[in-house]
Amino acid sequence: MDDFSGKTAVITGAASGIGLELAKQFGAAGMNLVLADVERPALDRAVTELSEAGYPVLAREIDVREHDQIIDLDRAARDRFGNIHVLCNNAGVGAGGPVADPDNLEAWRWTIDINLWGVIYGCKVFLPAMIEHGEQCHIVNTASMAGLASAPMMGPYNISKYGVVALSETLSKEMQMMQTAVGVSVLCPAFVATGIATSDRNMPDDVRATLPERPAASGMQTQIEAMVAGGISTEVVGQHVLDAVRNDRFWILTHDEAKAGVITRADDIVNGVNPSMRAGFA
Ligand SMILES: NC(=O)c1ccc[n+]([C@@H]2O[C@H](COP(=O)([O-])OP(=O)(O)OC[C@H]3O[C@@H](n4cnc5c(N)ncnc54)[C@H](O)[C@@H]3O)[C@@H](O)[C@H]2O)c1
Repeated sequence: MDDFSGKTAVITGAASGIGLELAKQFGAAGMNLVLADVERPALDRAVTELSEAGYPVLAREIDVREHDQIIDLDRAARDRFGNIHVLCNNAGVGAGGPVADPDNLEAWRWTIDINLWGVIYGCKVFLPAMIEHGEQCHIVNTASMAGLASAPMMGPYNISKYGVVALSETLSKEMQMMQTAVGVSVLCPAFVATGIATSDRNMPDDVRATLPERPAASGMQTQIEAMVAGGISTEVVGQHVLDAVRNDRFWILTHDEAKAGVITRADDIVNGVNPSMRAGFA
């Protein structure tokens, strides 16, 4: 898809981080923007910034865990701008905890519902009309290097991101089989400097209430925040994504140094070697 001008992009998780950057870059390329996010104040700030930059913007406060809200988003987007050409299923949260911990079940469910079911709903709701209108269009699903190699202590995140990779590969093959004009990409970054380390700012109270008290600054949390803060810029990630959409490139791997973990994992699989720390992503 090489002509963005006057076309429409829908972006979930658009209020901050990678999603906001995608909105800025698609806006600068001449697209109408549909921004969806669960965090109202950040969404309002994003609307102000993007509108002041002169981009046509529609915003909806939605929770991607809710199928009905994504159906409403699709309807509102098409009512306002007509056909949808780019869909970025990007909303996500970072949450983890050991597999052996029996008390973090609701945090696991919350993570998988957003990171995986949110992307499944996005594809299922938006795709029929995107296929039907027949114009060049593209779906970008945000996974992670955690969808290609599993680090410990990140169970629900890894599971959700492997799911997004599998969904995207399946979708890409189906779009080829059906000879549609829908391109597909999967975005797999390692660390990017965003708000992901404080994802629990959006955790609903009923989920939080099920979790044991955590010390304000646990060692693990401090470590994650430092790794995220030291990550690459969202601007670089956005450039990778626009380039992939323009050139119909499926894999968007933004960190060359993280590819070794994927190669090690593939080697381990075919050679029957048990999982080891060497096959992590960072
Ligand atoms: N930052 C990284 O290091 C990194 C690495 C790999 C993948 N990712 C992925 O990138 C995507 C974007 O995250 P980010 O790093 O920009 O973090 P971020 O926290 O800055 O942005 C995530 C956005 O998603 C929104 N969101 C959260 N839950 C939602 C819900 N239920 N419904 C709708 N919106 C919701 C948040 O409000 C926020 O605006 C995520 O899918 C994340 O897993 C991030």
